[in-house]
Amino acid sequence: MKRNQARKRIDELTAQLEEHSHNYHVLAAPIISDLEYDRLLARLGELESQWPDLAHPDSPAQRVGGAPTSDFPTVAHVTPMLSLDNSYSRQDVVAFDTRVHNGLGLGLAENETVEYVAELKIDGVALSLIYQDSRLVRAVTRGDGLQGDEVTNNARTIGSVPLRLREPGVTCQVRGEVYMRRGDFAALNQGQEEAGQPVFANPRNSTAGTLKLQDPKAVARRPLRYFAYWIDRPSPHTYGTHAERLGALKDLGFPVNPEWAHCHCLEDVFAFYDRCEAARDELAYEVDGVVIKVNSLEQQELLGFTAKSPRSAMAYKFPAEQVRSRLLDIRLQVGRTGTVSPVAVLEPVRVAGTTVQRATLHNADEIERKDIRIGDLVLLEKGGDVIPKVVGVVPEERPADATPYRFPDTCPACGADLVTYEEEVARRCVNPACQGQLKRRVEHFCGRHAMDIEGLGTAVVEQIVDRELVRDVGDLYRLDVDTFTSLERLGEKSANNLVEALAASRQRPFERVLFGIGILHVGATVARNLARHFPSIEALAAAREEELAEVDEIGPTISKSVRDFFAAPATRALIDKLRDAGLQLAGEKLADAPREETFFTGKTVVLTGSMARYSRDEAGALVEKLGGKVSSSVSGKTDLLIAGQKAGSKLTKAQKLGVRILSEEEFLRQLQWAEPS
Ligand code: IVH
Repeated sequence: MKRNQARKRIDELTAQLEEHSHNYHVLAAPIISDLEYDRLLARLGELESQWPDLAHPDSPAQRVGGAPTSDFPTVAHVTPMLSLDNSYSRQDVVAFDTRVHNGLGLGLAENETVEYVAELKIDGVALSLIYQDSRLVRAVTRGDGLQGDEVTNNARTIGSVPLRLREPGVTCQVRGEVYMRRGDFAALNQGQEEAGQPVFANPRNSTAGTLKLQDPKAVARRPLRYFAYWIDRPSPHTYGTHAERLGALKDLGFPVNPEWAHCHCLEDVFAFYDRCEAARDELAYEVDGVVIKVNSLEQQELLGFTAKSPRSAMAYKFPAEQVRSRLLDIRLQVGRTGTVSPVAVLEPVRVAGTTVQRATLHNADEIERKDIRIGDLVLLEKGGDVIPKVVGVVPEERPADATPYRFPDTCPACGADLVTYEEEVARRCVNPACQGQLKRRVEHFCGRHAMDIEGLGTAVVEQIVDRELVRDVGDLYRLDVDTFTSLERLGEKSANNLVEALAASRQRPFERVLFGIGILHVGATVARNLARHFPSIEALAAAREEELAEVDEIGPTISKSVRDFFAAPATRALIDKLRDAGLQLAGEKLADAPREETFFTGKTVVLTGSMARYSRDEAGALVEKLGGKVSSSVSGKTDLLIAGQKAGSKLTKAQKLGVRILSEEEFLRQLQWAEPS
């Protein structure tokens, strides 16, 4: 065959196979047999191996062509992958509808109403697909919502993910859910069992696991599918509503779940929900609720987002599956903030695909309110990914000798008296030296989303705290190989690995450190916002409650908690240890030399007098990091004088020369503003 002929044939086969693949995977209406399809595919494969340079990069014969990877690079999402607020009752949905109407209050013209689209909430794994010039170039998992794992080669093996769009020249971002059908999942598990391999708990877990397999060929053998529900495409595009957006997705070649409803009022939404819930078990795939979305994209835009979710959509979940089990015991767990929480020890039972032996009992009040006694037959619920919970008892099945549970008055870890704060149900241990709390704090600090110190799990933490080798997380960095080898069940190799893992954690960015030190109410998002707002831990420690409250997502409770944390005497010592250990206690951007323009950029700055919050050196370093130049004497070239208490001759001179003067407070404010938001 001549090159020209080969090119023509390759082009033809590629186009035909794409069409057949779309018919099969997306429309579920194949017009040729599987055998014929495979034959065409094999023919294309042959030609491509003869003429490799003529193969299309997105050829259907190359779906499984990716090389195995041991590592999925972390990449940033083009726009954050948010999640949805959950609701469990009609009241919640009515409240959502009211919020939507209020939110649109000003923008809602007369006669204008809010319409919704209700869709099934597929219980799978979110995947973002990026297309450039109509070709799939990247597939990224949700990750933490801001960045995820790039799994492009694995995503390419999913038959219903188009490698090329059915319209030329399109650049867009598409989001949807990867899932497995129940039947496919059952067959997969049967195969696993026969091969003596571990079985998967449920379709979602096996989908998540499959997406992270190292070899795309192995992924291709797993029955993954995709439903798209969102597209972001720079104009010109033709959709103005979510319903039209779903149509646009279909036109581009994506599989869109057919079960959705255009709802003109809440009654329509409820009717759809009821219909889906009744038919839930008959669906070929697992769903855990419906998603309600404002139809008009203009209204969606007006409503905007919170840090976590769009205000224009919400999940309305189906009730969770309930099972019964015997309550064998109640154990108490001391959390890292001192809350003592009761945990149910149960006879093992399967619920929502996993075997459960522990469940939360929430708090002492709940145990009392539900009158839960050891020996009771209890009702368990497991919704989605959350920890199973005990929701009630079966009173008829109560053993005759069961006595009401008495919650202890003292901490099970340190023996200190427990306290209950006003407006709180939790019983707390407030002993700052409690080793039970310390263990959980150390675990939190070492956790994957904080400092990610591999190998420093419960077994090690128990020992180093019990032996008083660490009194706060700062002490971790003083542990050496000899100390680790002296622990039980820890060889030299693991000890070395631990020391290395600790050393590596020094590079974790400031926001992770802030999250890791475990300030009450400071989760990952708040930590990130704080790290972006304040240039360093010193600036944060110095911030007043009102300044803290100016940060995104931070209200009076969090600002008070941050203030209390930094006011505590132990915190100073902790920060000193962390600084000595070489941790990142300032924003990443600050550490890099070339940065965005700030108030201080290019200014010559003189510092004088004493400041309450910084030594002069510290303040000088901050100015330099922000692009300023620190000089020791006031002259005609001085742009700024930062004057602390008891400023003397430099202040007088600056005043005489008309140099701009900043008080300490103004300086601190500029430090915050200097941080790009
Ligand atoms: S819309 C801003 N539609 O549910 C989030 N999500 O917590 C937009 N999901 O992460 C999501 N089916 O993985 C949307 N029809 C559907 C969905 C759906 C399943 C998942 C998705 C998301 C999670 C929401």
